[in-house]
Amino acid sequence: MRTTLIAGNWKMHLLSEEARQLVRGILAGLARVPSERELLLIPPYVWLMPVAAQLRETSRVKLGGQDVHWEGEGAFTSAISASMLRDAGCEYVLVGHSERRHVFGDDARTLARKLRAALAGGLQAIYCVGEQLAQREAQETEAVLDRQLQEVLGGLGTEEMQRLTLAYEPVWAIGTGRTATPEIAQQAHAHLRRRLAEEFGEAVASQVRILYGGSVKPDNAAELLAQTDIDGALVGGASLAAESFLGIAMAGSGVS
Ligand code: 13P
Repeated sequence: MRTTLIAGNWKMHLLSEEARQLVRGILAGLARVPSERELLLIPPYVWLMPVAAQLRETSRVKLGGQDVHWEGEGAFTSAISASMLRDAGCEYVLVGHSERRHVFGDDARTLARKLRAALAGGLQAIYCVGEQLAQREAQETEAVLDRQLQEVLGGLGTEEMQRLTLAYEPVWAIGTGRTATPEIAQQAHAHLRRRLAEEFGEAVASQVRILYGGSVKPDNAAELLAQTDIDGALVGGASLAAESFLGIAMAGSGVS
């Protein structure tokens, strides 16, 4: 049974006081979120430790980093290691977010190294995949997803796969207000799960959570989360306000 995970990726947003208020608001509304939903906050690195301190009063909200370097330590100015993330209170880390791929140029080899470092460092990794608009229009979506899985997950063992979450984030839906329809998202998620089953077996494939990301809002979350292969949401813009993040966390659960 896969528990639903609602993750808020703050990207490069919020100053310290804004971050503090946001976490305070989420904690204040937490009792309204059904207990079977797991929440995850992914702030900029500089706010990880203050957010971790605020989260000490609950075990329901986890903390994650937005990226990780592949080496344990060394002369890598600006980079953060898996052990630093753990030390700061993180259980999770994003790998391969589309902004890392398309703005910072992280390639498949880099992402494979980052993913292995995250898993070896004891973190749960959320590996992000997704096609660009031109690739969807050229009917290349499945081929792109296959390649993104193959290049980075190839050779992982069963134990490592247990600490892996996938996030399907179609690039054309990120920050555009243009959400994938629940049917389009479900199709992509089902495809990813089929590929996982072929590569790692049915048992592994049925355990891996696959989150959807791309303009998730309180009013479209219920329909997305109702899809068989959608196990949660990776939320950008709507995670920056407590009410909308909580609204997504509660969506479709029978409470509102
Ligand atoms: P938006 O929810 O702002 O579209 O961002 C999605 C995303 O990239 C989450 O990682």
